[in-house]
Amino acid sequence: MSLLSKSKYPLSAVVLLGAVIYALRIHEIVLLILPIFRVIQPIEDFPYTCERVEHPLLAGCEDMWLDHEGRKLYAACASIEGRTGWSPGADLWNVSARDRADHISVLDIDDPGSDGLYGLHQLKIGSEYPGDLDLHGLDVRRIGDKLRFWLINHRPPVNPKTGEPLNVYEVGANSTVEIFDLKLGSETLQHVKTIFSDAIVTPNDLAVDEDGIGFAVTNDHTNKAPGYSRGLELFTGGGSVSYCRSDSGECRIATREGCYMANGIANLGQGLFAVSQTGRGIVVTYKVDEEKTILVNELDFQVPLDNTSPDENGDVFMAAFPDARALFNAAKDPYGVPAPATVYMIPRQVLQGKQTHEYKGLPAIKVLEDRDSKHLPTTTVVVHDAKTKRLFLAGVLSPFIGICKNNS
Ligand SMILES: *[C@@H]1O[C@H](CO)[C@@H](O)[C@H](O)[C@H]1NC(C)=O
Ligand SMILES: *[C@@H]1O[C@H](CO)[C@@H](O)[C@H](O)[C@H]1NC(C)=O
Repeated sequence: MSLLSKSKYPLSAVVLLGAVIYALRIHEIVLLILPIFRVIQPIEDFPYTCERVEHPLLAGCEDMWLDHEGRKLYAACASIEGRTGWSPGADLWNVSARDRADHISVLDIDDPGSDGLYGLHQLKIGSEYPGDLDLHGLDVRRIGDKLRFWLINHRPPVNPKTGEPLNVYEVGANSTVEIFDLKLGSETLQHVKTIFSDAIVTPNDLAVDEDGIGFAVTNDHTNKAPGYSRGLELFTGGGSVSYCRSDSGECRIATREGCYMANGIANLGQGLFAVSQTGRGIVVTYKVDEEKTILVNELDFQVPLDNTSPDENGDVFMAAFPDARALFNAAKDPYGVPAPATVYMIPRQVLQGKQTHEYKGLPAIKVLEDRDSKHLPTTTVVVHDAKTKRLFLAGVLSPFIGICKNNS
């Protein structure tokens, strides 16, 4: 992108370059967006029984984490009205549309209760935390007698000296990672620190290392602020993966290789991270260490992909959008008909590049799909409870979540 921003290149050259890149990728993008050569299956093809759980606290949940030991599900949610106005990752920049009530919702997954709401409630935020949360991706680790949360936060930019708002169209969002602790038995998140860095550009999702200190973050774009260069990233590729340390607060860009709207990220252990690249329909595994980052493996799904969540066994569950046109319609009318959703399971060994896998031409198993939008939300995240063979599905623009039990 630096090439494009240098003024010594005349505009016509920039336009020509753009046209060439466009021509090269248009075929790929058309195939990615249109469900032409894709078989989308009805939900009846899969051995699952699904229920919807609908409540304002379960609307607009972009990401979730399952505490399989503590048997609780934690979801990063916000009002749909807020999300459709202010979502920097999706190029929605209306600062005044934020409802400033983003929250972490909690479900007791083994106890539906008489109301079928699984003890739904939201965590409180300690008074030591100043300001608002504008939530996106999250990850959580159990450390001793507490759960530690890493939350992506997209606040609007302000002048640090005067506190006056800055023009978001010039500078983009002030995105940070917030670390909070939840003591076991407590319902209040206590703020530990804010991580603010040039390498946290346009963060989307993050995954914490086994040591509970390092974490990798996806940036879905290269350009922080809206505009022409950022728009071109759909064709040129863009984004990056950064690596940070929670103790020192230091971050660096680990890689830009293979990044086309880097989106969901899952920790596979031993320094390996799997990243879904939405703009190309691929999942790329990287080995990240202190010095260098190596691209280990690339799996081609040819469908737009979203969040990736490892289950207790390390297998990764991933949400995909088999019909992007229906997705655009669902985004315009979130309370109307949801867009068809697909859930893939990628065995850990396949992501690590140690084993190949073929399932009807796909590098992973399709575990669930809902062609006719009967039960599933417009799904952006899926987590799997291996113990009870259940899937929990939520969506950043969905008013409800789905819970599906495998009957086989
Ligand atoms: C931004 O959001 C506010 C509050 O919801 C709304 O009144 C306003 O019309 C929106 N502005 C634009 C440009 O959509
Ligand atoms: C962004 O957030 C950081 C951390 O809270 C703060 O130090 C900085 O002043 C903010 N910058 C802008 C432009 O809002």
